[in-house]
Formats: sequence, C-alpha cells, structure tokens
Amino acid sequence: MTPPPIAAGKSSFDLVDVPLVFREIGLAEASSFFDVACGIGRYTLAAAKAIKPEGIVYAADLWTEGIATLRKSIEEQGLANIEPIHADVSKKLPLDDHSIDICFMATVLHDLVHDHTDQGALAEIRRVIRPGGTFAVVEFKKTGDGPGPPLPIRLAPEEVAALLAPFGFHRHKLFDTGPHTYCITLTAAA
Ligand SMILES: C[S@@+](CC[C@H](N)C(=O)[O-])C[C@H]1O[C@@H](n2cnc3c(N)ncnc32)[C@H](O)[C@@H]1O
Repeated sequence: MTPPPIAAGKSSFDLVDVPLVFREIGLAEASSFFDVACGIGRYTLAAAKAIKPEGIVYAADLWTEGIATLRKSIEEQGLANIEPIHADVSKKLPLDDHSIDICFMATVLHDLVHDHTDQGALAEIRRVIRPGGTFAVVEFKKTGDGPGPPLPIRLAPEEVAALLAPFGFHRHKLFDTGPHTYCITLTAAA
C-alpha cells in the first residue's frame, strides 16, 4: 500500500484567523480560488462559502482519504462550487493556464521543501495563476514554542519570498493570523 503523503491528516485551520485571511486576500471579490494541498478541505469548505456566489473553489491533495472526506462534506453541505482534485501538486494539474485568481497554501510549503517537491509545485502554481493574481501562503512562525513542525524546517516570511521570487512572485503583504502563524501574500508578475 502507498504510504500517505507527508503531514496527511494535519490541519492548521483551528490555529488561524481564517475570516481575516479571506478578507486580506479579497476572496469575496475573486472568481476562482485554489486550495493547494487541502487535506480534508477545512479551508476549502470555508472558502466556498466566502467567495462570491458565481465563484469556484478548486482543492487538490494527494491523500486519498482526505479528498474522499472532502467529497463527503461537499455532498452533506450541498455545496455546488467546489471541484476536488486528487493529485500530486508538484506535477501537472488538471487546471488551465492562468485560470486562478487566488492560490492558497496553508502550512504545507515547509513540508514540500523538506520533501524536495516544492519546485515542481511552485512552477505549477505559477502556470495556473493569472498574471496579477495572488498567492497566499500561511506558515508557522519560526519561533521555538507552540504547535507546528520542528523549528529547523519552519520557514520565515523572508524565506518564503526568496523561494517564490524565481517564479515571478513579488511580495505584497505580511500579516499575523494568530499566535502561531502568519500569512504572506505575493503577486504574480504579468
Ligand atoms: C499539514 S497538512 C495541511 C492541510 C491543509 N492545508 C490544512 O491546513 O487544513 C499537509 C497536506 O499536504 C498534502 N501533501 C503533501 N505533499 C503533497 C503533494 N505532493 N501533493 C498534494 N498534496 C500533498 C498532505 O496530504 C496533507 O493533506
């Protein structure tokens, strides 16, 4: 049996001021939102309720049980604007070039870096995001206390910005999302 992907089953949703993040990234005005490595889709489900009525939310994860749980929640909650995708986000995804207004990655990037799958994932995000679109990355603060991954693999905002710069992302905003996490947003160059 294939082992589950790195950090499968974990979620930062309860540690993050999610309404603040959605407000800061302008989700209510977006037409498309992509939750990259969504787990069971806690952010995905919240985003589907916060995006404008005609907006669509895509959500991808490699963890089979995570995507199955998301599909069940979509059905139970009667949501018609979510498309779950069972896929490795570091490989080609079934999304069109420049089709996404906001890409969102919550407490995943440090794992992808650790797993050496970050470069493929960032190239794919760059392909699907529209020029001028927003990439929002939530990460654990690089401090020794509180929940989160071991300190050496945590990413400071400057490290996130440096990882994304070669893909044509320019740093836009940095804000606190709770005692343990922050969000950095970057804009995709034209
Ligand atoms: C810490 S969890 C975060 C889940 C979600 N963002 C949240 O906070 O609720 C990390 C997720 O990344 C997924 N993952 C890791 N590597 C992946 C890859 N290459 N492609 C797709 N998903 C991946 C795992 O399956 C897991 O669901």
